Amino acid sequence: MNLRHPFVVANWKMHKTRAEALSFVHEFKQALPAPPALEIAIAPSFPLLESVAQALEGSRIKLVAQNMHFAKEGAFTGEVSPNLLYELGVTYVILGHSERRGHFRETDGLINQKIHAAFEFDLVPILCVGETLEERQRGQKETERVLERQLSSDLKDLIPSSVDSLVIAYEPVWAIGTGVHASPADAEAGAAFIRRSIARWFNEITASSVRILYGGSVKPDNAPELLALPNIDGALVGGASLDPKAFAEIAQAVPNR
Ligand code: PGA
Repeated sequence: MNLRHPFVVANWKMHKTRAEALSFVHEFKQALPAPPALEIAIAPSFPLLESVAQALEGSRIKLVAQNMHFAKEGAFTGEVSPNLLYELGVTYVILGHSERRGHFRETDGLINQKIHAAFEFDLVPILCVGETLEERQRGQKETERVLERQLSSDLKDLIPSSVDSLVIAYEPVWAIGTGVHASPADAEAGAAFIRRSIARWFNEITASSVRILYGGSVKPDNAPELLALPNIDGALVGGASLDPKAFAEIAQAVPNR
């Protein structure tokens, strides 16, 4: 079984100018949490990747892209290819975020193509899955059906050794940007269900190696209880990651396992 290193990711979405991004990196580096086993990464918007990469040089903070196309090149106006991201020093790529699924109609079939392409170009996907409020209100069984539907298509035709290195973010859509986070019991139930599904489709070793993050209104005050959950290996943080002090506090809340 691989040791699951805890992982916190700042998803800046469409926020921050170049100057703001650089001042964040400067401040955050000074507040960087101690445990070296903790992996930390930042996802700026595309035009800032290169300057943030330079600012991160020599630190242990990794670079994440918020999306990508699945093709290496081609007539896809406005899209960004995986090999360009790799060239810029990107390690991880967020795929299937609910804002991509919702606003830009990304389907599980497309997300699956992107996941295969990420592996092909040596990028590690951070796959986001999660139920909407309406689905959640229909009960835990419906939530599980949604997670199963998303995951089974998103991970189609992957080999266990790829899934081992994958990061999955359980992000209930109703908790994203709303200030209402999932209760520890619901977050743990979602993550545990995802891990059980991976065990069923792949194998136990893969299920115990894959890292599962929680995302959705993670803040310094709720991070300790959410990050202490046995099946949760870290957090994907939106709003609170825009402030270097708040993001450092969240990272500090990750227990040393
Ligand atoms: P939030 O966003 O922390 O602002 O809820 C999380 C995400 O979208 O990944």
